[in-house]
Formats: sequence, structure tokens, C-alpha cells
Amino acid sequence: MKHHYEAIIVGAGGAGLYAALEASKTAKTAVLSKLYPVRSHTGTAQGGIGAALGNVEEDRPEWHAFDTIKGGDYLTDQKAAQILVEEAVEAVYHLENLGLPFSRTSEGKIDQRRFGGHTRNFGEAPVRRSCYAADRTGHMILQTLYQQCIKNKVAFFDEFFVLDVLIDGKKCNGVVAMELATGEIHTFQSKAVLFATGGFGRIYRITSNAYASTGDAPAVLARAGVPMEDMEFFQFHPTGIYGMGILITEAVRGEGGVLLNRNGDRLMEEYAPALLDLAPRDLISRAIITEIKKGNGIRGDKKIDDYVYLDATRIGKEVIEKKLPDIAGFCRTYLGIDPAEKPIPVQPTAHYAMGGIPTDIMGRVLASGGGDIYEGLYAAGECACISVHGANRLGTNSLVDLIVYGRRAGAEMARFVKEADFGSMPASADEQARKKINALFTGKKGKSRGDIATRMQEIMMEKVGVFRTGEEMKRAITDIRRIREEFNDVRVEDTGKRFNTELLEVLELENLLDIAYLTAVAAKNRTETRGAHSRMDFPERDDKKWLKHSLIWLDGEKYKIGYRDVDISLYKPKARTY
Ligand code: FUM
Repeated sequence: MKHHYEAIIVGAGGAGLYAALEASKTAKTAVLSKLYPVRSHTGTAQGGIGAALGNVEEDRPEWHAFDTIKGGDYLTDQKAAQILVEEAVEAVYHLENLGLPFSRTSEGKIDQRRFGGHTRNFGEAPVRRSCYAADRTGHMILQTLYQQCIKNKVAFFDEFFVLDVLIDGKKCNGVVAMELATGEIHTFQSKAVLFATGGFGRIYRITSNAYASTGDAPAVLARAGVPMEDMEFFQFHPTGIYGMGILITEAVRGEGGVLLNRNGDRLMEEYAPALLDLAPRDLISRAIITEIKKGNGIRGDKKIDDYVYLDATRIGKEVIEKKLPDIAGFCRTYLGIDPAEKPIPVQPTAHYAMGGIPTDIMGRVLASGGGDIYEGLYAAGECACISVHGANRLGTNSLVDLIVYGRRAGAEMARFVKEADFGSMPASADEQARKKINALFTGKKGKSRGDIATRMQEIMMEKVGVFRTGEEMKRAITDIRRIREEFNDVRVEDTGKRFNTELLEVLELENLLDIAYLTAVAAKNRTETRGAHSRMDFPERDDKKWLKHSLIWLDGEKYKIGYRDVDISLYKPKARTY
């Protein structure tokens, strides 16, 4: 089946929906999502949106910008970060006006709380900057934006999985997708396409990411020749539920929770004496693993990693039930404990990709380090790399990124499609996608999908995790190459058309394997320690050699690496202490 829309958005999380809302003001707009939109991963974002409203204490956007740049270990593009924090304030009020039910101060203003790495006066002390709706902020964003998109008559293609992007030279003309309910292949012709498919935490064994976070857009674009930026930077959130990875929001620490080792000591006193439990995530994740390696973790069941405690008992039951109700529910459901009474066993969990599809500040996808772009091709949200998070994102800044840059990209698409024409669309546009699916049904039967996925996640966890070495990453690359080859012999046994979840999972695995490969290769290439990329064999940051973004092109088993300058026009890089 063929469809025509001026603007197509792939992905219905916060960035996709905000873009759709903007684009649909003037353009005929459709959103494709492999999920029902309000089930997108944005819905799991708990702790809040950082914006210097100054509702509870003095705050300024320039302090927020500085924290974001320092938090990103100076790999952040500084003007992009300035836009992020300045437009965050207006975007939060816009969401409030659209009906988002923020938690309130006693005066009725949007309430704000502390979060890691967010400080007043350029690092002096933690500041209350995170605007929140209890611990369901992402969920509320999705509900609010989805309702507004319906009002704007955006066309939704729910449960459509993107298979291919149609790029002619450097111009994007649409996408090919599979309707999960029928197995039918659809071609979408458009003047502009925005990808906002979220992250790819599922390359790791322990992750806070939804099962759907499989890097679909980065993989589809990488196979189409688009470079990926800064793939070596993957964030581990310090507090995932032990053994499961389910997120326990940083807001627990923002509200007064602390990390304890097996002796009951506040471990962060040693690693970040000034900000303690509100230091940035890269630092705290390393601190937890270092404590565990020193033997100071609380003994796990040995089959999996050890853990530390997140003590929320000191917050008090009333505050927990009012401000962190979902967390209390998760602890009861998954651990059988009440966090007001017992400490929560936690370990670092793969959480957020700082790298992804390179874009400029209008969301336009970059074709190289020189600034040239693909016409009509956009990306926003976690799958994109603007780069406002540099080498390590601060908590709350992902929601800021979605609402600020999702909205900007949508507005830019609307402007672009007014002047643009539909590109040509050959009758064979969907041929490659059809061939791929046929091959999966008819290929020879080799390893199982599940076996390959588990091995990939183990390799990434063990060898391309929080601490890395060149030797281990070299082995990871060899191993992932091997399992990518094995993937060629995966056969889909279920030949049914309707909701063929086996086929979907195999297609998602192909995406994950490509992204895992790019992540491992980019990580081995960067011979320094910066932000979330911590190399035991190169323990120092090396600005002379490495103050640059990496770009990586995928070409089957081969790859090519290039670079892009970092914008350091506001703050000169300094040593990063907390
Ligand atoms: O801890 C959290 O609530 C996560 C927030 C984020 O990743 O920004």
C-alpha cells in the first residue's frame, strides 16, 4: 500500500509527538510507531525535566548550561546546550498550558527538585531545577502531547515497524514500513522524514530500557550510509534494581536518599565530596563498581554482579508516597519491600545513548563532519546526537532534549515542506525490504535469535560496559562480528502474517547487532577517558587529541571513522571535579 504525507515522523515518544504537533500546524503529517504511542519509552522517564524556572530557589539558564557542558565532560556543543536550557523554560510552560499535570508548590507553582549535576552558581551546591509530575513525568508528557496531536488531526499508523529509508543521493523521499497487524509492507512517500525512535539500551544485559529500545532508526540509517556520532558514549544510570535494571529514579537521591556500601557507609563521600549522591551519573556508576570491586558491595547471588544499597528510608513514608509513588510500587512488586522501611538493592544499569544520528540545531541530519546535510531528513530525541549531552548526559536533560529539539525539528520540517516538492518514488521502492523479509523466512536454519541476543548482551555488558580496556573491546568486536555472521543464518519459523512477533524480534535483533558493533568499534577507537567512556588503559582525558566528536560509517563488516569539531565557544574545558 502507498501513502503520501508532507511530513512523516517515525517514533511516537516525546520528541516524535512534539515534532508532530509542530509540523501538523501547517503540514499534512503522519506518525508511524511500532508501539501504541503512549506506550513509548518516554513514558518510563520518572524524575523530571530540568528548567531554570527558579520557582523554589534562585536559578538561571546560564547555570544550567554550564552544568550541562561540564557534566558532558566538555564534549557538549556549547551553543546547542545554550539553546537547550534557554528554550527549556518556555517549553515547560508550554506543556503546562497544554495540560500537563505538574506537581505543585504550596503557592501553586510548578514544583522543582534536585537532580545529579544540577547546581547553582557554576557548581557551588545542588539546585532545585527538575520540574516533575510525581515520578511519572514522561508518562504525563506522552499523554499530554498525544491528546494534542489527535486534536491537530495527525494521522497515526500504530504498530508499524520501519524497515527502510528511501534516500536518493542526499535527499530523503520517504520510508518503507511493515504493518504488524497484517504483515503488509507499506511505502510512505514524503517531503520530509523525522526519526525519533529512542535509544538502544537493549544491546546490554542489564538495562533500564524497554524491550522496544532496539535502535531502529540509527540502524536503518547506518545501513543507508548515514554516519553515527559519538557512539562510544553510553550512559549507565547508577540505580537500576539489582539483577533487573529497572530504573529507580535519581529523584530518590534528589529527595534525600543515599547510597550505602556493605558497611553502611555513604560511599559517595569518597568519590564526590562536594555533590555526594547528586554527582553526575558517570561518576556515581564508576564509584559503585569500584566499591564492589574493593569488596564493599553487598554480596549478590554470585551468578550475577554484586550490588549496593540505595537507602530511601530517611526520606520518610509520606514524601515517598506523594512524590515517588511509582518507585514505591516497583519496590513492592519486584523486590517485595517497602522502600520507606528497607534499603533498595541497586546496580548500574545501561540507560542512555549520548551518541546517535548526527544533527544540527534544527534537527537536520548531517552527512559528514563538514556540516553538509541530507535534504528532508531529520532526527530528534535519544536516537539523535546534536550534541547537547556530550560525553555524559545530566539527569532530566533527556526530557529537555525531547521537548526543545523535538519541537524545533517539527517547526523546521513545517517550514521546509512548504517549499519542497515530493521526490521521485520508483515502483521498486519497497523491493529491498521485501527481499529481506523473504530471506528471513526461507534461509537455512542456524543459531536461534534468543541465543544470539543473549550473547550480544553479555559481550557488551562485560567488555563495553562502565569500565573498558582496548584488549577487551578488541575481543568484543571479534565476537560481535562472529555473531553478526551467525545472524545471517537465523530463520523465522513462524510464517504467519498477523502480529508475527518472531519476525519483529529478529528484525530488531539485526538492528541491535549493527548498533552494538558500531558502539564497540567507536569505543575501541577513542583512546582516552571522558564522561561515560572510561578506559582503564587510558585513564586521562586527552583534550589535545580527543576534543572532537567521532563519526562512524557502517559498510557491512567494514567501517570508516571520521571526526567533527566540538563547539567550545562559551566555556574552556577544565578538569572536572565534584
Ligand atoms: O533518574 C531518572 O529519573 C532518570 C531521568 C533521566 O534519565 O533523565
